[in-house]
Amino acid sequence: MPEVIIPSTSSELTGRALFPHRHLLSIADLKPWEIRFLLDEAEQWAKVNRGNARKHDGRLAGMTQINAFFENSTRTLLSFEIAGKRLGADVVNMHAGQSSVKKGETLIDTAMTLNAMAADVIVIRHASSGAVALIADMVDCAVLNAGDGWHQHPTQALLDALTIRRRKGGFEGLIVAICGDILHSRVARSNMLSLSALGAQVRAVAPPTLMPPEVGMLGATPCYRMDEGLDGADVVMMLRLQNERMDGAFIPSPREYHMLYGLTPERLAIARPDALVMHPGPMNRGVEISSNVADDPDRSAITEQVEMGVAVRMACLDVLTRGARGMEGWS
Ligand code: NCD
Repeated sequence: MPEVIIPSTSSELTGRALFPHRHLLSIADLKPWEIRFLLDEAEQWAKVNRGNARKHDGRLAGMTQINAFFENSTRTLLSFEIAGKRLGADVVNMHAGQSSVKKGETLIDTAMTLNAMAADVIVIRHASSGAVALIADMVDCAVLNAGDGWHQHPTQALLDALTIRRRKGGFEGLIVAICGDILHSRVARSNMLSLSALGAQVRAVAPPTLMPPEVGMLGATPCYRMDEGLDGADVVMMLRLQNERMDGAFIPSPREYHMLYGLTPERLAIARPDALVMHPGPMNRGVEISSNVADDPDRSAITEQVEMGVAVRMACLDVLTRGARGMEGWS
């Protein structure tokens, strides 16, 4: 067996050794120090984005970033577009509705077309789990997964981790309750892996119909009642009912779901008095979260999550193109 050296901090490694990945496809591929490295990189961009009227950096000047979105998105697409433009890349958006996919083109043909355009980085969102990894295998440049089916949404987990770290100072001993439609959620799967790897105690809170069997393997403890899941929680992360992914009825009605699993001020009082409220968006107000909780300026970190999204995506675009830019130690 080769000796595996586990660095206690990312500062013990540099260049490609520190982040030995060509693509960002899943949190499952990342070691805890690789996650921390991306968070540290993103922290610098968060400062640049907040403190300056002029946010242009230019390190990706001359490079082409294609955002290939085969599934609808507002904030993620916009966030990747802004991130790429702030770094100076030529950013092109491809929407599924306007693409040849509608004309019956296979995913592999689409991948080969994207590759032939000589993109330097491709950001992909797709409704099928595994589709992004399939494309990544076929192209010559870095691929970032912006959400594949129920599977993974790694940059969402990174921006959530950055938001938590900024607000709570760290992860060790922190209780994070991820609540709602865990079954259909790539955000939940990515967050369970990343937050448990970073040292938090993660609870998955959902009705039995919306609890996938693998939560234990992803590092979380299942809880079937909100009172149990929220008790002593430092962070409460709410998820939307992803009706577009449901085949049949998983809940009796949105009203009953709100009564049993909605985050109201009364229910939030079960968590710690300083508990942070998070939501990846889009929110369904009055279903999984009530408006007075979502808009509470002291407790809600929802707009900060959006802000951190741009910083995290700038970090990922920068790190994954270092080899192609010929940076020393990254080829
Ligand atoms: C999430 C997604 O697309 O998985 N949204 C997002 O990226 N901001 C969650 C969702 O759609 O509910």
